[in-house]
Amino acid sequence: MPPSLPFVAAFAAAGSLAAGGGGALVSLIPVLRDNYVFVMHGPESGPAMVVDPAVAEPVIAWLEQRGLELVAILHTHHHSDHIGGTADLLRRWPQAEVIANGADRERIPLQTHSVAGGDRFTLLGRMVQVLAVPGHTRHHIAYYLPPWPQACDVGSEGPQGDPLDCEPPSIEPEPAGSPNTGELFCGDTLFAAGCGRLFEGTPEQMYASLQQFAALPEATRVWCAHEYTATNLAWALSVAPTDPAIGVRLQEVRVARAAGRPTIPSQIGLERRTNLFLRASDPAALAVLRASRNDWTG
Ligand SMILES: [Fe+2]
Repeated sequence: MPPSLPFVAAFAAAGSLAAGGGGALVSLIPVLRDNYVFVMHGPESGPAMVVDPAVAEPVIAWLEQRGLELVAILHTHHHSDHIGGTADLLRRWPQAEVIANGADRERIPLQTHSVAGGDRFTLLGRMVQVLAVPGHTRHHIAYYLPPWPQACDVGSEGPQGDPLDCEPPSIEPEPAGSPNTGELFCGDTLFAAGCGRLFEGTPEQMYASLQQFAALPEATRVWCAHEYTATNLAWALSVAPTDPAIGVRLQEVRVARAAGRPTIPSQIGLERRTNLFLRASDPAALAVLRASRNDWTG
């Protein structure tokens, strides 16, 4: 049984996003050259959480414009373009919880609630599962939110008195524009048609991390932290020039980018079909692909 985390109560006090739990929206804010900061929030004003705030100013403006109150900041890893805005966000919302890998406390110093792979907690009406996904960095984690009917209502208690081990109280229509899929916040481990560089991990670790993602439901939305999709697909097509799925996706992505649209979120099913790193047969094959991608200049 997962531990009961005290900050669940704080989120309940801030208000549930949607009656019945879940149904939250996910929005992305483009920042810096090609980063995305993700916001999970309700359809109206209320509590919100952000993932990997590279910077604070545009995130504060985005939240304030919508009357959203920041209650939590989730970090996937310690790189500055994922944690750089945290201190200023805390100055604006001092009560916000900072959730990160406890093993990386020295490199992510502002965390108020440390987690590890295998942990589960409830946030804004959604169950959050922590996945250990080393490879890009040694302590990289990802956050997987199963489709919302599987989550518990914020603050509700199950038969054992554990707020993380309860049944959903009801299944209600989700807000418009919020598909009932799982959500994966994968940081710099999985990119659309790519994967992160192996700064601190081995091909074996990255292979195992990516296979965890590949095992998630096909419809899971994948919130990659950088807009690298067109470059990744152009490289992939150079490796697999006759692959029709990669070719079609590259054309679609180029149309989207020419129109100024993000290519994120992706989906697990699409990545299984078009991501050479997810399709790699073993760690050695992944290592060859990663070296090829590192050297590729287009
Ligand atoms: Fe990174």
